[in-house]
Amino acid sequence: MSAEKAVLYARENGDRFLRELKDLVAIPSVSSDSNHLADMRACAEFVEKAVSSIGFDRVEMVETKKHPIVYGEWLGAPGAPTVLLYGHYDVQPVDPLELWETPPFEASERDGRLYGRGTVDDKGQFYIHLKAMESWLNSSRKKLPVNMKVIIEGEEEVGSESLEPFLAANHEMLSADVAVISDTSMIKKGWPSITYGLRGISYFQIDLKGPSQDLHSGIFGGAVKNPIHALTEIIGQLKDENGRIGIPGLYDDVVEVTPEERAAMAELPFEEGVFLKEVGAPQLNWENGYTPLESLWCRPALDVNGIWGGFSGEGSKTVIPSESHAKVSIRLVPDQEPDKIGDLFETYVREIAPREVELSIQRMHGGRPFLGDLSHPAFAAAGRALEKGFGTKAVYIREGGSIPFVRNMTETLDLPCLLLGFGLPGENAHAPNEWIDLENYALGTRSAIHLYEELSSI
Ligand code: BES
Ligand code: ZN
Repeated sequence: MSAEKAVLYARENGDRFLRELKDLVAIPSVSSDSNHLADMRACAEFVEKAVSSIGFDRVEMVETKKHPIVYGEWLGAPGAPTVLLYGHYDVQPVDPLELWETPPFEASERDGRLYGRGTVDDKGQFYIHLKAMESWLNSSRKKLPVNMKVIIEGEEEVGSESLEPFLAANHEMLSADVAVISDTSMIKKGWPSITYGLRGISYFQIDLKGPSQDLHSGIFGGAVKNPIHALTEIIGQLKDENGRIGIPGLYDDVVEVTPEERAAMAELPFEEGVFLKEVGAPQLNWENGYTPLESLWCRPALDVNGIWGGFSGEGSKTVIPSESHAKVSIRLVPDQEPDKIGDLFETYVREIAPREVELSIQRMHGGRPFLGDLSHPAFAAAGRALEKGFGTKAVYIREGGSIPFVRNMTETLDLPCLLLGFGLPGENAHAPNEWIDLENYALGTRSAIHLYEELSSI
């Protein structure tokens, strides 16, 4: 087998690969927005064609309650290990649109970067793998060094609910030796990274109802509880000024970072000043007793994602609103379980909610945290592949984001999961002006080509 021929093929076809990615980015596949249902389908069809065109034996679009899953396989390497590649074709909403320098769904190249929604999260990253596979299947002996199964789904950004029944019903079909996902980041440019830990998530909406309709604040103000005030009273008790969450029992199942892990993390190229600049806030805010990196990767974090109610139009209106609302998420770490955290959250919020308002809590999506076992030989194989691809040694990191399917997949199929991210922390995932670094894109493709060869002997 010759990775060199595949690497050469990828280099020679690099411009076309990029043109194809631009076409993929042009499809506005926003999974959370029902106005984009047809675009979701169009995007799944694009992915289905893309997987077929690289020479897979079997490719299917699997219907679900929400958005289709694309499944494909190439099983032409009998006796060799099987790799299960996972990615997602859905993207986050683009608002606020006015902050984009170029339209989110017209991928555009500037300064060695490709801008557009989904360029890094995750269209660009799973496309790297499709093109790495194409490079093997179209060069030398027209074979991949491993068997390959591919799942590209359309609900990752909304909690991956349809994947659970798909996984349960297709256990046998999906069996593999190792899972590979590129939907994370490198710690820094020039530092290829293997992510072995992700946080989980529990997501809630709080709705408060006060008076049966908006009231004149002169006639009623002073004798009626304002639902927005009630909401801020609740939110104010969810965590303290140091980021410590106030929900009783929330830390009970948190596994402390070991001294060895802390020492290893302290060696990583994390610069507080650079991070602060990237964030653009006046100061950072993290949990007492931990470093910023430990807080980001290994500690729970509670955030209010949005809050609304009352009057926010031009000028002033004197009114006591009848309702208020907030979306709250908690990032979870091992061994916290979303259902248990949901119970704790609900009990606490019910207890502290002012009696003058009616409270309802919706539990939205959840996902469990993940921690991989670095002693599995797949991790060393991934390290070798990244070193060949980037020309420099890989580092092992954890990250603070969530990919809900990872834990389900690793437990149900009993396999290790390699998270090889080719993104960078400052690439504006979920924000205006998302981009992917084109050098990392090329080096990522090269690494993926080497990866399949390295995994052929695990
Ligand atoms: N690519 C991210 C996950 C990620 C981000 C991992 C940063 C590591 C570092 C993924 O697409 C994502 O954004 N997931 C959501 C999941 C949620 C909506 C259930 C997340 O983390 O917010
Ligand atoms: Zn995302």
